Amino acid sequence: MTPKTFKIKSFGCQMNVYDGDRMAELLNQRGMHAAAEGEEADLVVLNTCHIREKAADKAYSDVGRLRREDGSKPLIALAGCVAQAEGAEARRRSPMIDIVVGPQAYHRLPQMITEASLGRRPVDTDMPAISKFEAFPKRRHANPSSFLTVQEGCDKFCTYCVVPYTRGAEISRPWNDIVTEAHALVDGGAREIVLLGQNVNAWEREGRGLADLIRALAKIDGLERIRYTTSHPADMTDALIAAHGEIDELMPYLHLPVQSGSNRILKAMNRTHTAETYLAILEKMRAARPDVALSGDFIVGFPGETEEDFQSTLQIVDAVRYASAYSFKYSARPGTPAATMEDQIPREIMDDRLQRLQAKINEHQLAFNRSKVGWDTEVLVERRGKLSGQMIGRSPWLQSVHVETDAEPGEIIDVTLVAGGPNSMTGAVRTKEAA
Ligand code: 5AD
Ligand code: SF4
Repeated sequence: MTPKTFKIKSFGCQMNVYDGDRMAELLNQRGMHAAAEGEEADLVVLNTCHIREKAADKAYSDVGRLRREDGSKPLIALAGCVAQAEGAEARRRSPMIDIVVGPQAYHRLPQMITEASLGRRPVDTDMPAISKFEAFPKRRHANPSSFLTVQEGCDKFCTYCVVPYTRGAEISRPWNDIVTEAHALVDGGAREIVLLGQNVNAWEREGRGLADLIRALAKIDGLERIRYTTSHPADMTDALIAAHGEIDELMPYLHLPVQSGSNRILKAMNRTHTAETYLAILEKMRAARPDVALSGDFIVGFPGETEEDFQSTLQIVDAVRYASAYSFKYSARPGTPAATMEDQIPREIMDDRLQRLQAKINEHQLAFNRSKVGWDTEVLVERRGKLSGQMIGRSPWLQSVHVETDAEPGEIIDVTLVAGGPNSMTGAVRTKEAA
């Protein structure tokens, strides 16, 4: 039987969210539609993440949970990075899986569904030279804040990371394709576009870099805000930093993972920066855009990390005063160089370090949010809040802001930030933007 309804569940990074949206558009084009909330779907796509062991294991437990009470099951497609990493092996681990499709092959999903409906078990983890992007239908509906993938893959080979293996080599999408897609998103209702890439600031085509691209996109009528994520310190060019001081639409926010504050560990991780060169980049950024909100990623318990190394990580958090940051326990990934390094760190030590690091990050996050209390700013309204009349949007610094307003998603409203907690802000409306 050919499926008529589908459900797509995306895990992991924002690129998976983008991929999930595009898969939905492809399936819509083939006459399928998304199952309503609470309704059983004929097809379930699990768009998975392989970055840490926990995330990867979750994929299989989620597959198991798809068995229905009467013993039947939907058609199941394992997509995303676990599919890429495991290929046909995935079905040996879980025979319930019908389709295995990697992140560079999912434009073939409709065909694979047809094959699976005929009782075959298609697997496609190719990384074809012809870009999947060319197979997608034109974008029609867009969220107020929409993702747009401009770059994929990674050539950096940090020793802990699976991304170069699951997403392949660094590829930049062509300029015109991006501009066309941006226009379509804005026509579909986007006021903000978040440019995505595993190394988004490595985007380059015909000698033009991300700063040039942002400058061009900023001219699109109706596009009020531009963000980009995630960046690598090695590709943080002066032009991109300068753009933050020159382009109003480019939001004062930078997510720049450092991973560790210890130069010894950074070297073992094959990061190409040191704590000092990283801090120098941020200093330039603050000179270009003094109010910039800085964010980062950290790994604790990388093989060989001593208490002294960890102290250096705590120090860099204090030095940067992050507005937000993500931190993770090191997870050994099969096939990566760090997985076989000596001196793997025991779980209890990792737990303890993660707790201490997160406490420090939270302090800075709260301090940043409090420092913004009293500021007049703009909020892009994105969705309804839990309370009646309450809407949730984002400040330029990516803070989540709760506001009582009758403004609809997609409106940009003037607010005064009146209170700041560890994870969100409260805003009070000043005057509403003319519609
Ligand atoms: N273990 C733990 N965290 C990891 N990350 C990447 N690989 C691993 C791993 N093997 C983290 C990094 C990266 C973020 C997306 O996930 O901090 O920036
Ligand atoms: Fe997870 Fe990385 Fe794949 Fe994103 S690219 S889904 S973070 S493994």
